[in-house]
Amino acid sequence: MSTVIITGANGNLGLVVTEHLLSVGYRIIAITGPGGAGQLPRHSSLITKEADLGNEHKTDELVTSLADQYPDIKAAVLLVGGFAMGRLQQTSDEMLEHMIRLNFFTAFHMVRPLFSWFEKSNAGGQFILTGSRPALIPHEGTAFFGYSLSKAMVVGLAGYINAEGADKNITASVIVPTTIDTPANRKAMPQADFARWVSPVHIAESIAFCLSGAGKNLQNNILFLGKPS
Ligand SMILES: NC(=O)c1ccc[n+]([C@@H]2O[C@H](COP(=O)([O-])OP(=O)(O)OC[C@H]3O[C@@H](n4cnc5c(N)ncnc54)[C@H](OP(=O)(O)O)[C@@H]3O)[C@@H](O)[C@H]2O)c1
Repeated sequence: MSTVIITGANGNLGLVVTEHLLSVGYRIIAITGPGGAGQLPRHSSLITKEADLGNEHKTDELVTSLADQYPDIKAAVLLVGGFAMGRLQQTSDEMLEHMIRLNFFTAFHMVRPLFSWFEKSNAGGQFILTGSRPALIPHEGTAFFGYSLSKAMVVGLAGYINAEGADKNITASVIVPTTIDTPANRKAMPQADFARWVSPVHIAESIAFCLSGAGKNLQNNILFLGKPS
């Protein structure tokens, strides 16, 4: 059994991805925020750790201790992120910093020590990062500039992982979902056409494919998921 780390595992998407990867046989290290295990299932292959991934040193220590304890870690699925409205003209440094901390640094703090460990172990490894359409298509992100720019940094991070990892069997893919059909989104947008949204189960299945033997052959992968609105 190989081990996969999932961050944001107790979030709306994280719960579904965690359940799916458990169901296809991975051991999962589920990293949760201050909300704790929340609705995560009880499962013999599920290890839960609570951490603030915005904290550089604590995250470094956590990854080092996990790598020592579970040397078969093959991948990290980095789902932590969050959204805020605000056009460029209304975005203060503070708002932008908040978005970058939440979307970029929570991923980067995991990637840096794990990349070094994948490199040292000679086994390679995979990162699945979470982008968003406006990160790649600025025209779709003018109403949420800070969010879009911070997700663009996440997409950029994947590019650097692929460049740095090219001869080391270390790769990164980015999932780029449209609005996800989660209970939180249904509550926030009750008038929307839910049928246009992307199913979290389909995202989980796409992630499982990326992690599979066949999926590992995909290079510099950006996975657009769902119909653009
Ligand atoms: N929802 C959408 O429609 C949509 C669309 C496109 C992209 N995305 C992206 O998809 C990802 C998942 O979205 P979601 O809807 O599942 O989000 P969510 O329900 O808000 O979950 C986010 C998770 O991140 C955790 N988290 C936040 N800050 C943290 C920190 N400093 N350290 C550790 N954990 C932290 C939260 O934990 P606690 O609950 O414990 O605080 C929560 O479990 C995000 O990156 C989001 O930007 C979402």
